[in-house]
Amino acid sequence: MKSSDVKNDIVRLLSADDFISGEELGERLGMSRAAISKHIKGLQQTGLDIFSVHGRGYQLARNINILESEDIKRWLTSDAENLDVCNIVTSTNDRIKENIRSLPDGFVCVAEAQTAGRGRRGRSWFSPFGANIYLSMVWHFEGGFQAMSGLSLAVGVALCDALNEAGLKNARVKWPNDLLIDNQKLAGILIETEGYSDGSCSAIVGCGINFCMPEDVSAIDQPWTDVTSHIANECDRNYLVALCINHLRSSLRKFQVSGFSAFKERWDALHAFSGQEVNLTNGSQTIQGIAKGADPAGALIIDVIDEHGKRTTRHIHGGEVSVRVL
Ligand code: BTN
Repeated sequence: MKSSDVKNDIVRLLSADDFISGEELGERLGMSRAAISKHIKGLQQTGLDIFSVHGRGYQLARNINILESEDIKRWLTSDAENLDVCNIVTSTNDRIKENIRSLPDGFVCVAEAQTAGRGRRGRSWFSPFGANIYLSMVWHFEGGFQAMSGLSLAVGVALCDALNEAGLKNARVKWPNDLLIDNQKLAGILIETEGYSDGSCSAIVGCGINFCMPEDVSAIDQPWTDVTSHIANECDRNYLVALCINHLRSSLRKFQVSGFSAFKERWDALHAFSGQEVNLTNGSQTIQGIAKGADPAGALIIDVIDEHGKRTTRHIHGGEVSVRVL
């Protein structure tokens, strides 16, 4: 059995309600206590909170839903076979990249943990075991990278719609790649591309959604939140994964035909900073203005007022936006 399968089997036997001894785990899985202890340490290193008490055994800090391929497939509305459910990977984006040419549109990889999860701008993405959603989907485009303009905004809308269907109504989009609730980050999107500037190219759409964060979140240096803090009734992680896949697939299909303009109205309605004073930082340059919506190419529209009170509308294609504290 692969080491990653053993880890999943161990987590299935662990519970937050009771301790289970290393001896019992060993008997149930046909291995020594020492081997169990090694796998438990591996799980703890990937960020899963497991209490280990001498004489009593092991207990989860919180019950978790293990990702189960069959559970996810039950809720999928298309291409159930185009799903790769992994245990521990470097990054789900890497996993897609390995075979990108042969994978069909909408093929998706999800994992329990990432050892080298990537965020935008060279940052790392906190990816503890079993806590959150790490999902990457491939889509191929003709017409060069131009055909992908506004793609990350359309993906943001798709994720908001998936969360909405799961019962989480207050997620909003932050230009260009984040989902927020009350100014706290709920999800991030990293799109990596490959191909020819004027020919066929592929997008790896990587989505990280904070689902149920562990106790130790010292690795995150910005305000964050997670799904379970905002959803009244219990939400199954497998169900939410399936909803994300369904909404991403139908949105990417629509995007391929109509581009971002088909999402613009919905994006504007979900815009977290609409009408607010913002700072837009690009490298060493910062401009201030009032955030409007997005244009049909996915640029952010900002009204900038100069020192003479003159208002100019600018379309911003790159940078980081933050709300101005007045
Ligand atoms: C960001 O906000 O900086 C983007 C974060 C994107 C994280 C996701 S998790 C799944 C996929 N795999 C990665 O390594 N990164 C993306």
